[in-house]
Amino acid sequence: MHDAANNLAVAASGTFRLGTLELHRLGFGAMRLTGPGIWGPPADLAEAKRVLRRLPELGINFIDTADAYGPFVSEDLIREVLYPYRGMAIATKGGLTRHGPDIWRPVGRPEYLRQCVLMSLRRLGLERIELWQLHRIDPQVPREEQFGAIAEMQREGLIHHVGLSEVTVPEIEAARAYFPVVSVQNLYNLVVRKSEAVLDYCAAQGIGFIPWFPLAAGSLSQPGGPLGRVADRMGATPSQVALAWVLQRSPAMWPIPGTSRVDHLEENAGAAQLRLSPEDFAELDAQGRAEWKRQEAAAAG
Ligand SMILES: NC(=O)c1ccc[n+]([C@@H]2O[C@H](COP(=O)([O-])OP(=O)(O)OC[C@H]3O[C@@H](n4cnc5c(N)ncnc54)[C@H](OP(=O)(O)O)[C@@H]3O)[C@@H](O)[C@H]2O)c1
Repeated sequence: MHDAANNLAVAASGTFRLGTLELHRLGFGAMRLTGPGIWGPPADLAEAKRVLRRLPELGINFIDTADAYGPFVSEDLIREVLYPYRGMAIATKGGLTRHGPDIWRPVGRPEYLRQCVLMSLRRLGLERIELWQLHRIDPQVPREEQFGAIAEMQREGLIHHVGLSEVTVPEIEAARAYFPVVSVQNLYNLVVRKSEAVLDYCAAQGIGFIPWFPLAAGSLSQPGGPLGRVADRMGATPSQVALAWVLQRSPAMWPIPGTSRVDHLEENAGAAQLRLSPEDFAELDAQGRAEWKRQEAAAAG
């Protein structure tokens, strides 16, 4: 399953349609191509560029980024290495400002959202952004103003499709009064299950669900734990099993695992070819939900 020579490895993940583009469900998250705290350039710039160059060879044609990653480092690198993108969709985001490593502050004023889109267009060398996602709804600005500004940019043709990030079902429904929502990007993995209702809503409504941090598996990934046992049996790695589980959880799922290393990229791409048995899927699901309940109980004190 960890087959570096296996080109177009992710084709086995299935496809989804974005406008006229047919994209593979297993994509790539470009947040890790930056410095510590997602601030500044990556420690190994040459390796980061190798990662990007390897994407089309593996069949990965859906890349998630944001103006706030670096800031700008991730978008700039994508442009430098992959322009003119040939059949790839670059999904970016705006609406978060940066004040240092690990510091993210939403600004949703319409004139700022407009600047985010115009500057992402310039950095990526595009006339239209295939998928632009509101990184966060700014709680200090009426959401109708934020949605209205996005709808206007879509009408002008600056944005093709619109996505949201870290939202609830009522927020998605409020946004859909302004524009079609094609994707929702929320934290989701085997052991963080707070967005189950959002995932089910997306699946029912034909909206793509982009789980961020899809590789995390908490205590399930400990040596000798459930992920390792399934991985050993299948000749795979625990990360591949965690990703395969996410892919199998719903056809609406468009995971975007991220890495700054080519070997991890190839390993993650190999997950597209892994098919968990119904028994393994169900056992991992139950253990993931149990761990999530433990986390919730601990958080509630
Ligand atoms: N919407 C949002 O608010 C939001 C928030 C966070 C992230 N995102 C998006 O989601 C994407 C994925 O999220 P994420 O980066 O937090 O989570 P992730 O992709 O699940 O995990 C990335 C981490 O796992 C490591 N890793 C990757 N492949 C590995 C492997 N095969 N074996 C062992 N370690 C491995 C990476 O380190 P190495 O570099 O060493 O491989 C990195 O530290 C991001 O790139 C970004 O596009 C969105």
